[in-house]
Amino acid sequence: MVICQQITHSAQQTQQFAQQFAQTLHGGDVILLKGDLGAGKTHFAKGLAAGLGVDDTVTSPTFALHNSYQGRLTFNHFDFYRIDSSEEVELLGLDEFFYDRNAVCAIEWSERVADLLPQHAITVTIDKLDGDGRQITVERN
Ligand SMILES: Nc1ncnc2c1ncn2[C@@H]1O[C@H](COP(=O)(O)OP(=O)(O)O)[C@@H](O)[C@H]1O
Ligand SMILES: [Mg+2]
Repeated sequence: MVICQQITHSAQQTQQFAQQFAQTLHGGDVILLKGDLGAGKTHFAKGLAAGLGVDDTVTSPTFALHNSYQGRLTFNHFDFYRIDSSEEVELLGLDEFFYDRNAVCAIEWSERVADLLPQHAITVTIDKLDGDGRQITVERN
């Protein structure tokens, strides 16, 4: 079910939208960030973090796979672009993060660990339009 859709025209607007969207989130929410390379998934995650009251700078966890930040809730940011198999990710013990009632999780390239994802996820799809345009669609299962 589509909850909302928004078109943005800059990375800053995407971050602002994500920051506002973060106000609707609760502990235990898991967000799957979908879109091509350069769509704006990491910028969306930066906005989520800001909206959750994280002061630290959010950087892409491409090499670490997972970064954790403290705000009004814990913000767990994952990026599985570089994994070779979902077995690598199983070692992280994702369920411990997904079912943490004091944390929100956001996952880039979650498609690569499809079998490890929870039912209760929210999907945010970012589609590139012309130039800096992006269409952002938020859906709940
Ligand atoms: N409307 C927009 N929303 C998000 N990013 C945008 C937008 N317009 C241009 N950009 C640019 O697109 C790139 C998105 O990068 P990033 O967030 O790292 O993407 P991803 O994590 O999806 O690979 C950045 O260089 C950003 O400045
Ligand atoms: Mg990214």
